[in-house]
Amino acid sequence: MAITIHTLRKLKQQGKPIVALTAWEYATTQLLDETADLILVGDSLAMVALGYPSTLPITLAEMLHHCRAVRRAVHRSLMVVDLPFGSYQTGPAQAFEAASHLMKEGGAEAVKLEGGYPRLVETVAFLVEAGVPVCGHIGLTPQSVHQLGGYRTQGTSEAAAARLLAQAKDLQEAGAFALVLEHIPSELAAEITRALAIPTIGIGAGPHCDGQILVTHDLLGLSEHAPPFVRPYADLRGVIAQAVSRFGDDVRTRTFPT
Ligand code: KIV
Repeated sequence: MAITIHTLRKLKQQGKPIVALTAWEYATTQLLDETADLILVGDSLAMVALGYPSTLPITLAEMLHHCRAVRRAVHRSLMVVDLPFGSYQTGPAQAFEAASHLMKEGGAEAVKLEGGYPRLVETVAFLVEAGVPVCGHIGLTPQSVHQLGGYRTQGTSEAAAARLLAQAKDLQEAGAFALVLEHIPSELAAEITRALAIPTIGIGAGPHCDGQILVTHDLLGLSEHAPPFVRPYADLRGVIAQAVSRFGDDVRTRTFPT
């Protein structure tokens, strides 16, 4: 049965962890769809699949291109797509236009946007009223990397933790159906998770969130540099390097083709 935003809320109520992964293309997404409750076409694909130095350069057109490929492979999971940097920050009308492209042309079922400041919360409320399911994302928000001064843990001081808790509540109040908590202390993630009725999905935020998400390239051992909180479940870089090198040897020694 297809998973919806309501299924995720039920999983939280039942105390069942939510499994979420990022996706960027067709073949791997077919495999992810068998396990994941939520598939995110995350703008991290800018770095892991397109080789950009951060998530900032990726455009809406590029997100849409990947979104369409992922859409063709997703039949079960809830498909959420990131609004890229510059496509929603000026306000509700801009955000709605970007979201409607991803939903109409890319088949997205929901969008995710980063931040919890008051104007962004207003945008979330507008989108939700207009029928666009929204997943929030607070803590380390990579689109603000230059403002944050690097990819560092957020919410470490008492004031910063209180700010993140307040933002989480505001986003829930605005109608967000879930909240990604990235790179914040585990106790703070636990406190936010307890305070909310909507599910929290953690990445580098400890074990107490309602679900966990990883960038699939990191999980598979395909990324050049994975964050320290990642547990690699495979070494695909090694597997691919070995396969390619064996192919090269076989061609050069004329043992392929036979
Ligand atoms: O873009 C992404 O992959 C994300 C996850 C890290 C949550 O936002």
